[in-house]
Amino acid sequence: MSDSSLPVRTLAVLRGLLDPWLFLWQSAKRLPGTVPALLRADPGLRGALQLLSSPGRLRDAWFGRFWAAAGPGVQQGAEPLVLALLEGRVTGGRVVDTLLSPAVGGTVLEIGAGSGFWVHVFSDRYRRHRRQQQKPSDSGEGSRRNEDENENVITRVYGVEPNRAQHASLRRRVEAAGLADVYRIAPVGIEDLGDAEKWGRYDQGEGAGGIEKGSVDCIVSILCLCSIPDPERNIRELYGYLREGGRWYVYEHVRCDYGWHMRAYQRFLNLFWPVFIGGCQLCRPTVEWLREAGPWSHIDVGQPPHEEWYHAIPHQLGVFTK
Ligand SMILES: C[S@@+](CC[C@H](N)C(=O)[O-])C[C@H]1O[C@@H](n2cnc3c(N)ncnc32)[C@H](O)[C@@H]1O
Repeated sequence: MSDSSLPVRTLAVLRGLLDPWLFLWQSAKRLPGTVPALLRADPGLRGALQLLSSPGRLRDAWFGRFWAAAGPGVQQGAEPLVLALLEGRVTGGRVVDTLLSPAVGGTVLEIGAGSGFWVHVFSDRYRRHRRQQQKPSDSGEGSRRNEDENENVITRVYGVEPNRAQHASLRRRVEAAGLADVYRIAPVGIEDLGDAEKWGRYDQGEGAGGIEKGSVDCIVSILCLCSIPDPERNIRELYGYLREGGRWYVYEHVRCDYGWHMRAYQRFLNLFWPVFIGGCQLCRPTVEWLREAGPWSHIDVGQPPHEEWYHAIPHQLGVFTK
């Protein structure tokens, strides 16, 4: 039973409000080490001038170092939610035992794959292991059959990641997950997904890149729509890649909607947040933009129930079906 005594409650509220500042501090600590590392990689006056003239390079490298340290904790915390989401066991932002919608499958776009913290969730081996570990909600034959039917085969994953500094670790995690034949890195931003020229000769093993509109079965966006440029346009663009009946699985942090005090607090945090967290924006109404991206046949999305009013970084979890 949860302890709801006043001191415990006060502590939880304080933690909720202060957590984002601790996160910022974790990032700030990585900055002093980032500059010398970049200068070592590109020594001399030329390297120093390049660093000064390209703040984006410093920001990407700083975020990369920070996320390498902080990402695993964030990933572990979110994993039960994300796995349930991809298995089709989420409704209204809440994880349930019953399978409610089809699992992720077919041709999948993983948006903002980063260094690959989520790659393993696409591996059959891992998904099978998960199913074996899960206690059936009832031991009946029907429930087992339901699970088997929900085992959608993933035929191709495109990991969309324009930051090439992340590709070496992304590729390592793809290999480790046994997905070398299935997972392909799309080395461009959303805006250039359909442009084979922009993919260049990146992945020569398979010829030209480029994805056709209306050809994708599932889109998975995990904590990345906060960081993409021109989000409304890019979300509409992604909508165009989904086939009719295709599904978009979302786990994103979004703008606070509790009361004016939390909205003001989040806006204040957001004065610092994008500077320290690689351009990540806290106050995006991402779910509204998703709703407006085009006609959906079904939307089931909500905030996970454990997130209370004092969470300055609230999330939305759910599936949009085209
Ligand atoms: C906060 S990180 C999240 C990475 C990963 N999803 C995770 O949870 O570890 C956001 C990612 O979005 C990527 N990104 C930035 N602009 C993008 C764009 N235009 N298209 C696709 N991804 C983009 C960034 O390079 C970064 O890897």
